[in-house]
Amino acid sequence: MSDEVHKGLDDVVVAESQLSYIDGENGQLLYRGYSIQDLAEYATFEEVLFLLFEGELPTKEQLDEFTATIREERSLPDDVIETLRSLAAVDAHPMTALRTGVSALEPHDPDQRLDPDRNVALSQGRRILAKMPTILAAYERLRLGKEPLDPHPDLNLAANFLYMLTGEEPDEIGAKSFDQALTLHADHGFNASTFTAVVIASTRANVYSAVTGGIGALSGPLHGGANQDVMEMLIEIDENGMDPIEWIEEARSNGERVPGFGHRVYKVKDPRAEILQERSRELADVGESKWYDYTTTIENYLTEDLGLTENGIAPNVDFYSGSVYYQLGIPADMYTPIFAMSRASGWIAHVLEYQEENRLIRPLSKYTGETDNEFISIEER
Ligand code: CMC
Repeated sequence: MSDEVHKGLDDVVVAESQLSYIDGENGQLLYRGYSIQDLAEYATFEEVLFLLFEGELPTKEQLDEFTATIREERSLPDDVIETLRSLAAVDAHPMTALRTGVSALEPHDPDQRLDPDRNVALSQGRRILAKMPTILAAYERLRLGKEPLDPHPDLNLAANFLYMLTGEEPDEIGAKSFDQALTLHADHGFNASTFTAVVIASTRANVYSAVTGGIGALSGPLHGGANQDVMEMLIEIDENGMDPIEWIEEARSNGERVPGFGHRVYKVKDPRAEILQERSRELADVGESKWYDYTTTIENYLTEDLGLTENGIAPNVDFYSGSVYYQLGIPADMYTPIFAMSRASGWIAHVLEYQEENRLIRPLSKYTGETDNEFISIEER
């Protein structure tokens, strides 16, 4: 057996999957064979959820039934709201509130046992996905000293989230942009959080544990946390009246990475960033243009003037999502939880797929420590 260490598991293939295909050299992303561009343009997030879980796009009747099931599951138990209230009182990050909120849902699930079969895992997954937007919107309102709003019976998942968050029904461009953003973040191969969820589920733990673990993995700045960092960079530039290039130069001279740039798999511009850039531009056309202007100035400087793309460092999905969300009135620390609320669909779909032919994931580490230490009693140490 080879004891070669694959740090970061770079280029190591650990499973087969039919969920998402990524061509990092050509900037292509497919979900179950459909291009991300077509899905973002023509399908709703609910259709994408159905596609990921069931393997095919739904008929109208299937979509209506699936959507109705999700809508029935959106409300939160009172004690989960009280848990969120106590987290708001100590100003916890919304990602903490989401992770804790999902965990707190488990005792309310009628199928809360370990080792769930596919139907139980699917029902648990649907319940979690239905309730995650409600957790986040409720948390945002609670920390503003307002009471959570009940889900709107007539709105889809994306529009209902914006409604529960702001108290206002979004306009068409806002609802469509947000729905597209959810679609674009839904799945992305065996990224760190998906792998985490699958590792957890490979022990036959249930979907609540898998999703809770996925949220933890996504929270880091090298993964989902970058979208908040991008927006905070733009806000800092704006508040200090800085030239965006000056900010970048300062960060680079301190050896910092530019958030929203670079990707382990993409060596060209992330196709999701292309679509979100377009949404950011459209929102800028009807609102404030400065956020879009800062991002394009930074992108042009890094790619054209400094030639970073030649070294495979290009804008990733997080680079333009922040300015889209900000223009929809969403505060920066909600962006990573929003990523989680979408990516949970990918986590759950991968869990369902992996558990069909489950094998406990149990890699090895190469021991590099001592082997012949003599035990010394505590009195003599
Ligand atoms: N800004 C400046 N230089 C960078 C950046 C960046 N954002 N990203 C990578 N590099 C450089 C890095 O310094 C290194 O240079 P050198 O070889 O001279 O030391 C080289 O590129 C390779 O870096 P790496 O860390 O080996 O590359 P990786 O494939 O492990 O990095 C990454 C992927 C996402 C961790 C990294 O690009 C990064 O830290 N980006 C900033 C954070 C970010 O935007 N994360 C979101 C990723 S996309 C959404 C998601 O999947 O969650």
